[in-house]
Amino acid sequence: MMTNPWVKDFPQLNSGMCYLDTAATSLKPLSVIETLDHYYHDLSANIHRGMYHAAVETTQLYEETRETIARFIGAETEEIIFTRGTTSGLNMVAFSYGLAHLKPGDEIIVSELEHHSSFLPWQEVAKRTGAVLRFVTLNEEGRITVEAFQETLSEKTKVVALTYVSNVMGFITPLKEIVSLAHDTDAIVVVDAAQAIQHIEIDVSDLDCDFLAFSGHKMLGPTGIGILYGKQNLLQSMEPFEFGGDMNEDVEKGQSTWKTAPQKFEAGTMPIASVLGLKTAVEYLQSIGLKQISEHIEKVHRYAIAQLSQIDEVTIYNKTSETGIISFNLSDVPAHDAITFFAEQDVALRAGQHCAKLICDWLGIHSCLRASVYLYNTYKDVDRLVEAVKQAVKYFKELGF
Ligand code: ALA
Repeated sequence: MMTNPWVKDFPQLNSGMCYLDTAATSLKPLSVIETLDHYYHDLSANIHRGMYHAAVETTQLYEETRETIARFIGAETEEIIFTRGTTSGLNMVAFSYGLAHLKPGDEIIVSELEHHSSFLPWQEVAKRTGAVLRFVTLNEEGRITVEAFQETLSEKTKVVALTYVSNVMGFITPLKEIVSLAHDTDAIVVVDAAQAIQHIEIDVSDLDCDFLAFSGHKMLGPTGIGILYGKQNLLQSMEPFEFGGDMNEDVEKGQSTWKTAPQKFEAGTMPIASVLGLKTAVEYLQSIGLKQISEHIEKVHRYAIAQLSQIDEVTIYNKTSETGIISFNLSDVPAHDAITFFAEQDVALRAGQHCAKLICDWLGIHSCLRASVYLYNTYKDVDRLVEAVKQAVKYFKELGF
């Protein structure tokens, strides 16, 4: 038996749902929900504009969030930009930095493990600039290795855009060594940390990556808010990505000037409530500690792999993953048919290509099921998943699959 002290903090679990879809989005603790309520109920003001009490308090909480995030990942406050999520952070780097710096023949290193958000912006920038995409050869398990990265790296490499943790395979990329090698050839490294930030202690000054993006909603925070970390000298040299209110210094008919980073990247009214909620989410994570969270995930994950491995009809694609993501299929049952069966059992999984078609191609599958465990999951959730899998196998066999 496993007593989980955190389950009570997540009101959505009161329904009895077995939630195994954190890689898509995490549940939200009550404290985060209360912060959103506080903003809309008591403040509801814009930032950096009004002088009345609610506006001043809102601005203060907004900027405190930036400081909290900076401390959380070992960055300077000015290096933290609020975005809509990982996707918009990675697009900002590709279209602000990439378009301005890449020229024909330059190389961009990516991998087949990339989420479409970490691949498509660079594919598009390559098309527009004449730069060339190079793929790190994955090893037989599907991992990015330092050796394979080294073989792909050349004097022509200008950008390395890699995932920290794959949202399908759950493997952790050996980024520290990769960043060091990339810097030896003066390439910059852009990290998609969407599946890492919620369980790996990240210190960007130690990692030395140039940009790192993540989303609030996968780390117990609200939707609509994400973070782009960028090294100060790079951010200051970049042009804004969006233009509008609050990002400008002076506006003239002929020419206008911009504030410095991060403000020049935050045009228009930002998702203020979500920013405030993200601060509460980080405080919640810090009150437990990411180390304790990852140890818990590892226990539940190991238990799940052991149970699922005993079912002949289950093919697991990432048995050796060191994180909470389990990708699998039931023999001969299309993932979307299986997911409908699980939904009827109130077991929440994701099915499909997971916005990462290249790794599905690499695996030789059209799609798969994905269960992902997090701090609020227990062995009991795994037992429910395993029972649902057994029933699904029986059900689809009877139907002739
Ligand atoms: N990127 C999210 C996932 O992997 C939505 O499910």
